[in-house]
Amino acid sequence: MADSKIKTIGVLTSGGDAPGMNAAIRAVVRKSIANGMTVKGIQRGYSGLLNEEIIEMDKRSVSDIIQRGGTILGTARCEEMRTEEGQKKAADICRRHGIDGLVVIGGDGSYRGALALSHLGINAVGLPGTIDLDIACTDYTIGFDTAINTAMQAIDKVRDTSSSHERCSIIEVMGRNAGYIALWCGIANGAEDILLPEKYDYDEQKIVDNIINNRKHGKRHHIIINAEGIGHSTSMARRIEAATGIETRATILGYMQRGGSPTCKDRFYGSLMGAYAADILAAGKNNRVVAFKNGEVTDFDIEEALAMQKSIPEYQYEVSRILSR
Ligand code: F6P
Repeated sequence: MADSKIKTIGVLTSGGDAPGMNAAIRAVVRKSIANGMTVKGIQRGYSGLLNEEIIEMDKRSVSDIIQRGGTILGTARCEEMRTEEGQKKAADICRRHGIDGLVVIGGDGSYRGALALSHLGINAVGLPGTIDLDIACTDYTIGFDTAINTAMQAIDKVRDTSSSHERCSIIEVMGRNAGYIALWCGIANGAEDILLPEKYDYDEQKIVDNIINNRKHGKRHHIIINAEGIGHSTSMARRIEAATGIETRATILGYMQRGGSPTCKDRFYGSLMGAYAADILAAGKNNRVVAFKNGEVTDFDIEEALAMQKSIPEYQYEVSRILSR
């Protein structure tokens, strides 16, 4: 691939960080260098690009990072990049630094910036990095596996103390408007109720009846996994305690779910997808999102990817409900 037109690749991480982003950065850097290119790291996402926080990267600059959580490049959410003016400025800065290919590791929001840059002549490729698993074109997003394992372990701990005190616990997990973390943990933790933004009917009486019924049948605890997209766990706990007479506590797991050393799966997919992004840029592709679909790494047009819809798999939801009874 030494005769590729692209000479210099920039790499940035954008939006919420996710474990495994470092593995992806490492793979982009090392595979691009192997493909005969120069690589520049852009710090603090699009904000850093607009402030020209751009550093040279070589093979050694990504040593000893694959096992680390977060992103060594830093990340940010950037309002300016949503504006036409910001996008033009970003493209000009890329040109000034000789960056003719860009890998953006992040979620849907970050791809909109990549799409704009593609239209402005910078070859851009998106990589799915988010704990939320909410990117429609891909079956996997980097960070999801670590996040669900972190949440699962925390929920197990809350369950121990819930059982000892014979309490009801509402545990709120992240996921923005998507319920994938809640669904996976709900099944893996054997929760009694799983509330997903995509499915929840806001009928609290059903939950109350379920708690009372389970208590009658000898359950010592009642675990409710509530997704961030529904939220309000603390007030929900107060209402449920008042309605059931059973002590009810809310635990919001929060940002701990985004940190920590990535699992093998996140390191593996981060590495694979990062290398693939470097390769498709080297092959002259532009305006693509890398995805893992039907057991293979592949890529989609960014606009097509953004237009795709994703929903909670019906069978998984059905199983979660049956097993919780
Ligand atoms: O997208 C990842 C995520 O952690 C979501 O689960 C959550 O809604 C959001 O980011 C929080 O974002 P911020 O870091 O801006 O508070």
